[in-house]
Amino acid sequence: MDAIVLLKEDHKTVEKLFKQFEKVEKADGAATEKKALVDQILMELTTHAYIEETIFYPVAREAVPETEDHVLESVEEHHVVAWLLSELKDLDPTHETYDAKVTVLMENVRHHVEEEEQEWFPQVRKALGRKRLQELGEELEAAKPNAPSDPMQLRSAHA
Ligand SMILES: [Fe+2]
Ligand SMILES: [Fe+2]
Repeated sequence: MDAIVLLKEDHKTVEKLFKQFEKVEKADGAATEKKALVDQILMELTTHAYIEETIFYPVAREAVPETEDHVLESVEEHHVVAWLLSELKDLDPTHETYDAKVTVLMENVRHHVEEEEQEWFPQVRKALGRKRLQELGEELEAAKPNAPSDPMQLRSAHA
């Protein structure tokens, strides 16, 4: 699969989980469901950030050097997300800060995804071409199982 298509599919998966969280957020007795959703969000985002940081971002940066600022900003956004995820990991879903942290996480990720998809990825697509993007897609897929389960093990967590 084309690398950019693959990354956009990941974005869609995460957005679906966000929408589900928003639905159960205010429901009574939703704690267990919220925790399960956040566990899934954590896993999806950590894997996605991992393949972007280790494979896609370095290739994109080299292919389109003028997007360097995008790459650096994106890593900082991953950094914030990694820390929020690691806090949520051990936080009781009934704690008063829980929903606020998830809301800020969702705002950050939605903004980040919008920038990737609208501003940055189209330039990378142009520079890399279809064949290279196909190969890169395979590399991304193959790297998924190597992703850490702990967001603090992402490179960006310590950037
Ligand atoms: Fe990203
Ligand atoms: Fe992404």
